[in-house]
Amino acid sequence: MEVGSELVRGGQETYPALLSRLSEHSVAKHYDAFADIAWDDEAFAIRADDPRWILPRVGLGASAWYCALDPATRARLGLHVVVTTMTVGVQFENILTRGLLKFVARLPPDNPEARYGYHEIIEESQHSLMFQEFVRRSGLRAPGMTGVLAKIGERVVNTAAWFPELFFVFVLGGEDPIDHAQRDALASDRNHHPLAARIMKIHVTEEARHLCFARAFLREHVPRLGRVRRALLGLLAPIILGVMAEIMMRPSRHLQREYAIPDVVIDDVYGSAEHRQRTQAALRKVRDLCDDLGLITFFTRPLWRLLGPWSAA
Ligand SMILES: [Fe+2]
Ligand SMILES: [Fe+2]
Repeated sequence: MEVGSELVRGGQETYPALLSRLSEHSVAKHYDAFADIAWDDEAFAIRADDPRWILPRVGLGASAWYCALDPATRARLGLHVVVTTMTVGVQFENILTRGLLKFVARLPPDNPEARYGYHEIIEESQHSLMFQEFVRRSGLRAPGMTGVLAKIGERVVNTAAWFPELFFVFVLGGEDPIDHAQRDALASDRNHHPLAARIMKIHVTEEARHLCFARAFLREHVPRLGRVRRALLGLLAPIILGVMAEIMMRPSRHLQREYAIPDVVIDDVYGSAEHRQRTQAALRKVRDLCDDLGLITFFTRPLWRLLGPWSAA
């Protein structure tokens, strides 16, 4: 990449200027998982029967099965959903940071992607500390991604070195749905547990930079890809985004077993048009980006429809 002092081109901030700005923001506004969260404050204590963990009335939380549970079980299941999401978050961030380390290792020091990459690695590591501490204090455990998904995750780490455009689609596939869910939750009038609200606010603030970087990276680099890589990216993007959204948005098998959630309830909630709309809303920004980049074509559109991230509207 050309690294120059040009900050604006055609009235638009240049890619190097944007990365420098994101790096400066990371210096000016960042959080430490332990210095900036009052973990030992009594108001932050985690109790599994706290009614503030009860799921909101959407998806599983709106099902007749869930509403018929006693309040303590509804709260514990709600907390367990949070614990599962945070466990998957730690695993995702582990893959992300290892991939970013491989990515920055190949860059010269004067490439602004190298500096910003390190800022993001540091921030993601603070997020992992924060999520891990929440899980530790909750007393609940979740296996997160296991088996095939864990093996695929290991492969994703290496794509950061040989096919970073594919790696950043994976990054958006994980970050965008969680960011969407956290922004929705913070904007709602729900009575959040203060620890959950604090963690979400910190995460949303720093993820805004990470999402901005991933999108700008793809806008900068995808147009320069050769035909084969471009076709591969167009084919894999809807698969990655569809699978990632499902991992982030539906309860794990472990939770289904632990709370004996009937298959019919899962099928009803997650096979519904409403769930499909929620998935599409969570992936809308990344899908629109892929569309702008010319990755959604006559040949790949059916795959986007089939896997969920494309609205027919
Ligand atoms: Fe994060
Ligand atoms: Fe992130």
